[in-house]
Amino acid sequence: MSDDLLAEFVDAIPMPALVVDQTERIIAANTDAKALLAQNIVGRHFATILRQPQVIDAIEQSLHTKGPTKTRHLSNDGAQDTTFEVECRYMNGVGAVEGGAMLAIFQDVTHVEQASQMRRDFVANVSHELKTPLTALMGFIETLRGPARDDAVARERFLQIMADEANRMNRLVGDLLSLNRVESEERVRPKEQLELSGLLQSTLNSLRPLAEDADVELSLTAPEGPVSLAGDSDQLRQVFTNLIENGIKYGGSGGSVEVIVISSERDTAMRGPAVRVQVIDKGPGIDAVHLPRLTERFYRADSHRSRQLGGTGLGLAIVKHIINRHRGRLRVESELGKGTAFTVILPR
Ligand SMILES: Nc1ncnc2c1ncn2[C@@H]1O[C@H](COP(=O)(O)OP(=O)(O)OP(=O)(O)O)[C@@H](O)[C@H]1O
Ligand SMILES: [Mg+2]
Repeated sequence: MSDDLLAEFVDAIPMPALVVDQTERIIAANTDAKALLAQNIVGRHFATILRQPQVIDAIEQSLHTKGPTKTRHLSNDGAQDTTFEVECRYMNGVGAVEGGAMLAIFQDVTHVEQASQMRRDFVANVSHELKTPLTALMGFIETLRGPARDDAVARERFLQIMADEANRMNRLVGDLLSLNRVESEERVRPKEQLELSGLLQSTLNSLRPLAEDADVELSLTAPEGPVSLAGDSDQLRQVFTNLIENGIKYGGSGGSVEVIVISSERDTAMRGPAVRVQVIDKGPGIDAVHLPRLTERFYRADSHRSRQLGGTGLGLAIVKHIINRHRGRLRVESELGKGTAFTVILPR
């Protein structure tokens, strides 16, 4: 195969690829390979370009055995670390020099790596979250069988704690299942027509007992007349329940949680008709360092307080997925000592 033909062939490979012949020089490289490694690499010894030992080994071995090898090439594209899977294949009749040449193809597997890292983190988080209440339950069972066996007062108290811990596990499993359901439907657009003011009013009503216990005043300000949109009413109810509940739980010291509905024909964020629902509290607020990560699963700004209040850290992750499904946006503004405002923007 002539060098021109080889160059053309390598250029047609839709990912970084290069050819090294038996003189150990790079005899062809496509644009992606040049972008990844360096511009003038054709003609150079491969080991001066590819300096990672495992890559050098794989290429040397492929040239030596005239067989396939496989390795990883680690890089950084300026924004993040990237991982490439490198496949080396031997081609007997290729190259000007006797004996053929090897083709190395670099496949970007960064997203695969990230996904498997996320899965590992997720499993570790879930196990950790379940383990804490489970350990408590097991401890109390031991105590009830032994030292507290005949102590009626202690037994009552321990059973209460056990019920709380079991509830926490139950809530966690419920939240995980609901997150799973929301994620699996994320691409299915909701079709149901619903009226938002009524939905918010009934959500607020069901949270009234919680608010009264926490000494928090709940209020709703909505436009006169119906606010209609296409959505999933159960899911939107869950969104506002989570936001208002957070306002009561974490911002309750401010004494109020306000819900404000604003409907407009041309929303700046949605570039079209949309409705904004703001959930505002006057509590301690959230430090700016936490804001970008609030909707991550299990992320808590104040983990001690959240756990104490029975939170699973999944509430806002569920909120985000439901809003995504509705093609909406979630915004958070918060100032320490002043309070927090979550805004849900939904297209109409
Ligand atoms: N209005 C708020 N004021 C202050 N902090 C808040 C507010 N809302 C949320 N947070 C912080 O964000 C974290 C994440 O909230 P999220 O609703 O996802 O989890 P959670 O409330 O801990 O658990 P869950 O909602 O599953 O019971 C909370 O732990 C809390 O630290
Ligand atoms: Mg919550």
